[in-house]
Amino acid sequence: MKNEIAVIILAAGKSTRMKSEIPKVLHKLCGRPMLGYVLDLVATLKPKQVVVVLGYKQELVRKILPKGVKIVIQNKLLGTADAVKVGLSALSGFKGTVLVLYGDNPLLKKETLDKLLDYHVGNNVDATLLTAKLKKPFGYGRIIRDKYFTVCGIVEEKDADEVQKDILEINTGIIAFKKESLANNLKFISPNNRKKEYYLTDIVGILAKKDYLVDAVKVEDAREALGINTRVELAKANSIMQKRINDKFMLDGITIIDPATTFINFGTKIGADTVIYPFTVIERDVKIGKRCQVGPFAHLREAVQLKDDVTAGNFIEMVRSSIGAKTFVKHFSYIGDTSVGDNVNIGAGTVTANFDGKNKNYTLIKDNVNIGSDTVIVAPVKIGKFAITGAGSVVTRNIPDKAVVVGVPARIMKKK
Ligand code: UD1
Ligand code: MG
Repeated sequence: MKNEIAVIILAAGKSTRMKSEIPKVLHKLCGRPMLGYVLDLVATLKPKQVVVVLGYKQELVRKILPKGVKIVIQNKLLGTADAVKVGLSALSGFKGTVLVLYGDNPLLKKETLDKLLDYHVGNNVDATLLTAKLKKPFGYGRIIRDKYFTVCGIVEEKDADEVQKDILEINTGIIAFKKESLANNLKFISPNNRKKEYYLTDIVGILAKKDYLVDAVKVEDAREALGINTRVELAKANSIMQKRINDKFMLDGITIIDPATTFINFGTKIGADTVIYPFTVIERDVKIGKRCQVGPFAHLREAVQLKDDVTAGNFIEMVRSSIGAKTFVKHFSYIGDTSVGDNVNIGAGTVTANFDGKNKNYTLIKDNVNIGSDTVIVAPVKIGKFAITGAGSVVTRNIPDKAVVVGVPARIMKKK
């Protein structure tokens, strides 16, 4: 049913209500900028063109955009209608449906947009709004309907009277337009409101008055509609996104004992039959094999790889490290910039001292090594196969294969 689609994503705004110097759309949900989720969603629609409107600190936002999207710059942030006008400047030859999305609306799902677009095209509508019914509509634009229940306008929170504030149906910000109907009427919008901005939402009243066909499709799960303006909303959206990510892992065969206290970044890879214990935090670029045990209280930071059957137990912090198959790091250890082989046992309290005050240094622990409890490994250093370190040793030099070392600094006692 779809005709050709172009998408305009508005992402020029400041972070005023976030009280932040970082552009709002770069604030993260589950380790990923919120705009990233919107861009993924847009890609699934296979649009003819994607235009992203940037403004505030555009040089930062630009870095996360994929190839093939067109960037346009809104020099003065005059409001959402002005941003759409700038967006349209990149779509001069295009005819068809223009879908307007906001970069601060990362929880939308593909099925919802499909429904909106099918309705829009199938019924030959000029502007189809995606609306939601909220118990607490505060902050959102309210949908105004006439006595025939036809949509005839949107009024923003700041401009709403007491009666309008009680309306529970809100504007999600997502609107599908017939290109010409949008382009021909933007010029009638004036900044006649509390914020002195050009509101895109005013176009709804303008179109309705001129007898264009305006309609709305309601999103079933109102949580999808969440627009993020403050850090309170950011936290709310984060927990919704985290639940989606954790649910997906569980459906793919990973046990998460307590999803409510398990924080796994977007993009993490985990193999089947791995068990994640409570209070575990997993950050970006982490890959975990099959049948591993992680946590409780494990912190896997960026670029950690666990091969199959690894145990990364209580109070473990790891960063930029890979851990070989069947290796145990079971109790309170810090492993940084380290490559650990297969079948290694790392005793309780082991620390890789990877930072000398200036540089991060690398540690190599080969297969079948046995690191005694409370060993400090001062990098850069290599520990040979089948080597053993005594409890409390401080390793400052390379250890040959099969050597047993003890003491501070560690000396070779014997070769096996
Ligand atoms: C907007 C809608 C409101 C809706 C809500 C849904 C308007 C006037 N209001 O309000 O009806 O209920 O979203 O979340 O549209 N932006 C620009 N250039 C600008 C201004 C904003 O690109 O000049 C971008 C922002 O980066 C943001 C998006 O447009 O991604 C929406 O702006 P925002 O200020 O968040 O609008 P809301 O107050 O949330
Ligand atoms: Mg918003």
